[in-house]
Amino acid sequence: MVDARPEVRPAPRLRVIFLGPPGAGKGTQAARLAAWGKVPRISTGDMLREAIAAATALGKQIAPLMEKGALVPDQLLIGVVQERLMRDDCKKGYILDGFPRTLRQAEGFETMVGGDLTEEMLVFDVEVPRPELLRRLSGRRWCPACQSTYHVDNNPPKKDMLCDREGAQVIQREDDKEVAVARRLAEYDERTAPLIDYYRNRSRFYRIDGYRPPDAVFQELTSIAGGRAS
Ligand code: AP5
Repeated sequence: MVDARPEVRPAPRLRVIFLGPPGAGKGTQAARLAAWGKVPRISTGDMLREAIAAATALGKQIAPLMEKGALVPDQLLIGVVQERLMRDDCKKGYILDGFPRTLRQAEGFETMVGGDLTEEMLVFDVEVPRPELLRRLSGRRWCPACQSTYHVDNNPPKKDMLCDREGAQVIQREDDKEVAVARRLAEYDERTAPLIDYYRNRSRFYRIDGYRPPDAVFQELTSIAGGRAS
């Protein structure tokens, strides 16, 4: 049967923050929402991994931290994001994936954009039970050329573990190995989870059940972002 509902369209100037633990599906959904809303996705994890791959001064400084699952210093991230938000493509909106991640970063972001804009931001807190997070992270594979993400069981590349877009061999991220994952989850609990209360009272905050198929999660996000959900 044909879906007769009108297409859900993004609100003008879509601005979103994704919160949620490692493996919750933030990157997967942020990429889809950015394409839907025709706004850039700003993934601090991807930006930092690009700096490491290019062996820039920043990349050399942060590589040992990221490999073991530790957070990169706040001041560095605030500077990187501030510079990125000044580009023209952010004027019509953006999707932040992986930032802010500490109270200090959230305060730095608010200083950057102002309190009014913070109130307008959509904040999606994507929640997934911990055993499922571990399953997703241990099975995740990643293309070092274009940063596309796969999963060995539920989203493998079409052919021989080669990236569908780049044809490169997909690999496991260093920080998806067991010890680093434990550290990332601990960092999340201690330093990122407090942002839930911070944004609950400051922005248009939505708790999203991320333990569902990606399409179901995406449909809820677009309903909210298109102004159709309550
Ligand atoms: P980052 O790259 O941001 O990693 P993360 O936050 O730990 O998030 P992940 O990429 O692990 O998970 P995700 O929620 O995006 O899930 P995904 O969609 O990939 O950061 C990495 C590191 O960079 C940090 O540890 C830190 O060192 C540094 N860093 C970055 N930002 C920083 C900041 N602001 N401050 C300080 N340091 C910072 O999905 C995971 C898997 O599950 C995939 O295989 C996917 O296919 C699968 N999947 C997704 N959705 C579903 C679904 N609905 N059902 C089943 N499987 C699914």
